[in-house]
Amino acid sequence: IDIKALRGATGGVTTIDPGYKNTGSCESAITFLNGEEGILRYRGYSIEDLAEKADFLEVAYLLIFGELPTKEQLDKFYADIKAESHVDEDVKKILDGFPKSAHPMGVLSSLTSALIAFNPSSVNVDSDEDMYKAIVKLLGKFPVLVAWALRKKNGQPLDYGDDNLGYVENILKMMFKKASSDYELNPTVVNALDKLLILHADHEQNCSTSTVRIVGSSHAGLFASISAGISALWGPLHGGANQAVLEMLEAIKEDGGDTKKYMAKAKDKEDPFRLMGFGHRVYKNFDPRARIIKKAADEVLSDLGVEDPILEIAKGLEKEALEDPYFVDRKLYPNVDFYSGIIYRAMGIPVEMFTVMFALGRLPGWIAQWKEMRARKEPIGRPRQVYIGETKRDFVDISNR
Ligand code: ACO
Repeated sequence: IDIKALRGATGGVTTIDPGYKNTGSCESAITFLNGEEGILRYRGYSIEDLAEKADFLEVAYLLIFGELPTKEQLDKFYADIKAESHVDEDVKKILDGFPKSAHPMGVLSSLTSALIAFNPSSVNVDSDEDMYKAIVKLLGKFPVLVAWALRKKNGQPLDYGDDNLGYVENILKMMFKKASSDYELNPTVVNALDKLLILHADHEQNCSTSTVRIVGSSHAGLFASISAGISALWGPLHGGANQAVLEMLEAIKEDGGDTKKYMAKAKDKEDPFRLMGFGHRVYKNFDPRARIIKKAADEVLSDLGVEDPILEIAKGLEKEALEDPYFVDRKLYPNVDFYSGIIYRAMGIPVEMFTVMFALGRLPGWIAQWKEMRARKEPIGRPRQVYIGETKRDFVDISNR
């Protein structure tokens, strides 16, 4: 390698690391992850403690501001969010323009971007106060967009929730309340959703979070950065995996429930099929979130009296994978998405909304990472490359090509 040719304008050497498997993009004080040992902590607190003892809004505050809130701080935070929980009426017209078949992730990403037009003050956030205002605006309006994406899909009228409810309760209300009758909140469902959102709230420099940071590094604004993050999350190798897992489990059920056949497909290098919900870029051990979710799935299904054959197929696949040398050698364990879809399904959330629910949970993490990036005055993200194309060529006129 000609090191001189690789030398960039900064005087350094350009390294090639496809997928950034060994390249850190920033220093961060938000989430600690040890993939070898299966440890996940937000701001130093274990994910197990937070999932058990905190609620989603407390965790959002912790991620964004660095400390667990006092009761007064939490009350003020929620009051500020609630004051921003209405969306401009014209956003409904934009939503009207989408076909009913539109994927809710596309709808969510577009509407989040559209919010910029109605909230231009959220773009230039030079002071802490401006930044705070943009953050509570987004935390207030985002759940409305999530609920509307579902209601649009279900052909239901767009509406708001009930400000007397907690943040997560209100989300369920907005999603499911019927025009005529009211939606009865089930504490098991509220608790399970709260837990799921906490478990998804941050995961350091994953694909969507890195997207949020890199888009934000151009000072494009919070809403634009989050909209880009939503698009990144949509892919089946990232957040879209929860939808892909359920579709895979359904397909196995339809095909007679032969898990061994699908295990063989997953191991066949000629077959593009992968066991969705298995493997993780960073965890080379059990994903600690998967353990918590697996327990929650059992609780929700038994509390709601749901008997889901899909769960049996999931358990069968997990058992086989944990004993199979292909999966053991490559350290492919079930990830967070393997069980989350089963819970969402039991809650009555359609498969196409699963990744939207992931985005809802990830929102505080994206915000915290964006805020940290701005506070640290990080430079614009601009990776280098090693050029492997043609060397200099003489132009050939079109008549001679
Ligand atoms: N099924 C079968 N084989 C797999 C799987 C799988 N789910 N995951 C990885 N492998 C194999 C690969 O074929 C490769 O085998 P090889 O060494 O013989 O070539 C080896 O394991 C390593 O896989 P990579 O793709 O190199 O690992 P990487 O870290 O790049 O990818 C990823 C991680 C994308 C999560 C991958 O495991 C995968 O595609 N899993 C299924 C999709 C999924 O569940 N995504 C959700 C991730 S969690 C999240 O985003 C919240």
